[in-house]
Amino acid sequence: MSGVTDLRALRAQTVAGDDDEREHVMPPGHRPGLRHLVEILLEDLDAAHAHDPAARTRLEVALAYPGVHALWVHRLSHRMWHAGLRLPARLLSQVTRWLTGIEIHPGAVIGRRLFIDHGMGVVIGQTAVIGDDCVLFHGSTLGGRSMTRGKRHPTLGNRVMVGAGAKVLGPLTIGDDVQIGANAVVVKDVPAGAVALGVPAHIRFPHQPPAEREKLQDPALIIEYMI
Ligand SMILES: CC(C)(COP(=O)(O)OP(=O)(O)OC[C@H]1O[C@@H](n2cnc3c(N)ncnc32)[C@H](O)[C@@H]1OP(=O)(O)O)[C@@H](O)C(=O)NCCC(=O)NCCS
Repeated sequence: MSGVTDLRALRAQTVAGDDDEREHVMPPGHRPGLRHLVEILLEDLDAAHAHDPAARTRLEVALAYPGVHALWVHRLSHRMWHAGLRLPARLLSQVTRWLTGIEIHPGAVIGRRLFIDHGMGVVIGQTAVIGDDCVLFHGSTLGGRSMTRGKRHPTLGNRVMVGAGAKVLGPLTIGDDVQIGANAVVVKDVPAGAVALGVPAHIRFPHQPPAEREKLQDPALIIEYMI
């Protein structure tokens, strides 16, 4: 599927935005039963362990990673939000913000295996949607540009990376495999596979496809790549 088609498909999923329309944007498979929920929580743990070279054991990640704690609580508060327990869900998310420095509105739809690295200062708005296998660094914001109700926060595809301090503002669509540079301010849609840099962010396309970039980040694979 081309980047443009990807963006259209993502946008079609996310035009709804009012509180009671949020069910429309929940990707299939994201309203799990209890057993499935536990699997998802363990996946979250594994995602943090896999993404952070500093993580030594799963126990360490479970005890010492605020990004994992905030995400786990969000998995619960999101269910409470959709069960009609909106005030308790908001209070729970605010207590978590106080404890972790990460603010995730309970209405936000978050896919599987999100990794929030460091965490402090991350803000994820009510109508934000995040695909699978994304990474958010500290200080990143998925925020709104206006105070109007309805869909006003971004939609991220799969495997999107949002660098430290980056702001993604408005009901934008960020395609799969996009990388948003540290401190960028993104105010327009970004097509799949692109890199967004600067203020306001400009788009460029990397020379290597995302899978090749991943290889080059692993020193062991660089050697393999060169010989
Ligand atoms: C955007 C990013 C993914 C680009 O990585 P990359 O594809 O390896 O790109 P390069 O490092 O080769 O840089 C390519 C160009 O973009 C520039 N650039 C890189 N990151 C930038 C940023 N955040 N803002 C502005 N320009 C940036 C480089 O200076 C270079 O410019 P040039 O072509 O004029 O020389 C990466 O630089 C980044 O910002 N990652 C965020 C990571 C982060 O937040 N870490 C926090 C850890 S605590």
